[in-house]
Amino acid sequence: MSDSDVAVTQVQSATPKLGRLVVVGLGLIGGSFAKGLRELGLFDEVVGVDLDAESRRLAVELGVVDRCETDLELACKGAAVIQLAVPILAMEKLLAELVKLDLGGAVLTDVGSAKGNVVRAARRCFTGNDVRFVPGHPIAGSEQSGVEAANAQLFRRHKVILTPCEFSDDSALQLVDGLWRALGADVEHMDVEHHDEVLAATSHLPHLLAFTLVDSLAKRSENLEIFRYAAGGFRDFTRIAGSDPVMWHDIFLANREAVLRTLDVFRDDLDALRDAVEAGDGHQLLGVFTRARVAREHFGKILARRAYVDAMHANDLIFLANPGGSISGRIRVPGDKSISHRSIMLGSLAEGVTRVEGFLEGEDALATLQAFRDMGVVIEGPHHGRVTIHGVGLNGLKAPAGPLYMGNSGTSMRLLSGLLAAQPFDTTLTGDASLSKRPMNRVAKPLREMGAVIETGPEGRPPLTIKGGQRLTGMEYEMPMASAQVKSCLLLAGLYAAGRTAVTEPAPTRDHTERMLRGFGYPVEVSGSTASVESGHKLTATHIEVPADISSAAFFLVAASIAENSELVLEHVGINPTRTGVIDILKLMGGDITLENQREVGGEPVADIRVRSAKLKGIDIPEDLVPLAIDEFPVLFVAAAVAEGRTVLRGAAELRVKESDRIQVMADGLIALGVKAEPTPDGIIIEGGSIGGGEVWGHGDHRIAMSFSIASLRATAPIRIHDCANVATSFPNFLALSAQVGIRVAEEGKA
Ligand code: S3P
Repeated sequence: MSDSDVAVTQVQSATPKLGRLVVVGLGLIGGSFAKGLRELGLFDEVVGVDLDAESRRLAVELGVVDRCETDLELACKGAAVIQLAVPILAMEKLLAELVKLDLGGAVLTDVGSAKGNVVRAARRCFTGNDVRFVPGHPIAGSEQSGVEAANAQLFRRHKVILTPCEFSDDSALQLVDGLWRALGADVEHMDVEHHDEVLAATSHLPHLLAFTLVDSLAKRSENLEIFRYAAGGFRDFTRIAGSDPVMWHDIFLANREAVLRTLDVFRDDLDALRDAVEAGDGHQLLGVFTRARVAREHFGKILARRAYVDAMHANDLIFLANPGGSISGRIRVPGDKSISHRSIMLGSLAEGVTRVEGFLEGEDALATLQAFRDMGVVIEGPHHGRVTIHGVGLNGLKAPAGPLYMGNSGTSMRLLSGLLAAQPFDTTLTGDASLSKRPMNRVAKPLREMGAVIETGPEGRPPLTIKGGQRLTGMEYEMPMASAQVKSCLLLAGLYAAGRTAVTEPAPTRDHTERMLRGFGYPVEVSGSTASVESGHKLTATHIEVPADISSAAFFLVAASIAENSELVLEHVGINPTRTGVIDILKLMGGDITLENQREVGGEPVADIRVRSAKLKGIDIPEDLVPLAIDEFPVLFVAAAVAEGRTVLRGAAELRVKESDRIQVMADGLIALGVKAEPTPDGIIIEGGSIGGGEVWGHGDHRIAMSFSIASLRATAPIRIHDCANVATSFPNFLALSAQVGIRVAEEGKA
């Protein structure tokens, strides 16, 4: 159980009840807090205090509180919790009154939108050991106001930020935290100063801009004309100028310093944009607009998803896969993830404009794209898989303003670390919960041997902090594991290192980096199992057509193989020989797979793949095929689970350090579905048979979630798959394509 679960449980199981809750200020926020907790029955009684008689009357009548008091002292004497929900500028006066009372052990908390001023006021009133105070800020509002709008559900799935200070002892903090969680809020703790900076930027500045824009236009004599033609943009942008002027007046005065700092930064950016317009600098404008547009879409999506993942079970994205079905049709799965990443990286470092088609608009590749935008590269799109990259040349990247967020993408982090080790500026690379557990020493160590200065988190995990301005030297490196990410990372560093950088692999791994470097006119030598580059050349912009991803196609290769009466064509799939292990393994198991219309597109072989139902049999998977099918094993385990006989995989320890420990997680899921599966240190043994229904978990790993969706085709009962949000990292339209070909999987509740 996490700390937060403990807090909720403690609060909810409080017997006897928690005593008296007093809410001072019965507006929307105070009223909703009172009403929600009263409905939960956590307190013996809920008492309201408000200067306005009508609010007091309504609060009782609407069941917001049990009763009201006009006398603050009577209300607060012996109270357990006192919530201060008065306007920010009234807070100091209220605290000054409270300090005169005997508050006993009562815990004070508040809901103000700026915290520094409240804490400063508390410091002026209290000495330190005479009060227990936990400042808080629920980020929830509504156009409505007043106690009549009080809503017990108002805080559900909204963030509440607590900013503990010297008056907040641990048990008081736990108590307030538990109360908000009991109301369904997602609670975070933050420093007072940090809270005020963040809110100044994300809430206070936009309100200030909306108010001034409307006022500035409305003041003009021609205002009528302006409002007559005001289109959606004006209306959308200025919606928040309809907010309560008195409240905002209070907020700007309360959070003065932080607002001024963000305003100054913004004014500089606005001036720069003004200069660009004046100078006719379209490149600069396009840079700002494309960065902003994608930042909004991309981070909006990722943050929304992370909120899901963080809030755990309550917000779990569940796929419900119903049993049976047969597969038919012709589909094209999204673009290859590995090639999409590399197209952005090399396109950015090239001279000239690179156009990409078939780009994967999944979150992983978008994380790479965003990182290069953050480093000053102008990138248009993606729009229907088309991306235009205005390359800056090998030495044209600029220092990003903050850490580069790689989301779930190990490929982004590992490949970028090679490039960034050679830049003149420092960078920090961060990732989500799954990426933050993955090993980075495999790149950090050899990069250090080349002269890079890189720090990792504990045990070689992210974040990576890379010091700029180092002179790298080429080297000959024998990789201890077969990893295309490590190979690519070092080759990219090699573009900047003195002399020759050569990487030897213990077994063949995907060679998209080598192929694409050549496509950009950069010489790469490949001799046996060694690939090498020398610095001193340049990349020249080119046109890239990204084939469909065989790793995404793999789910359907297995689907059509194991489902009865099935025939499916997967169009335009990349069949680079370093990636086709899944086809070879399925064929060894008896799969009926044919390649049609084979051709080469932009240096990569592609084909349409026809697959029909087949009676699969268990096999010993040849070890030399392991690196060539490394991402496809989760779904191959599903094929093994319905094959006749035993399938044995060895030499695949790398699967334990992917987006999840794919050996353990698949074994757990298969066993939960009644399959005989035995994990081994470097593989798995699966006895083929039948698959039952049940509950399984994706563990933040897209390929696990999709593999169990495919298992449903031969399951005897529905499979509920938890934690599926990360499917969007590599295969955003997985559910739509699955439904199109006949797989009965959908988001739970949306079938
Ligand atoms: C990738 C290489 C592989 C693969 C990953 C993508 C790449 O990782 O699992 O999904 O694009 O280079 P490793 O290099 O760690 O095997």
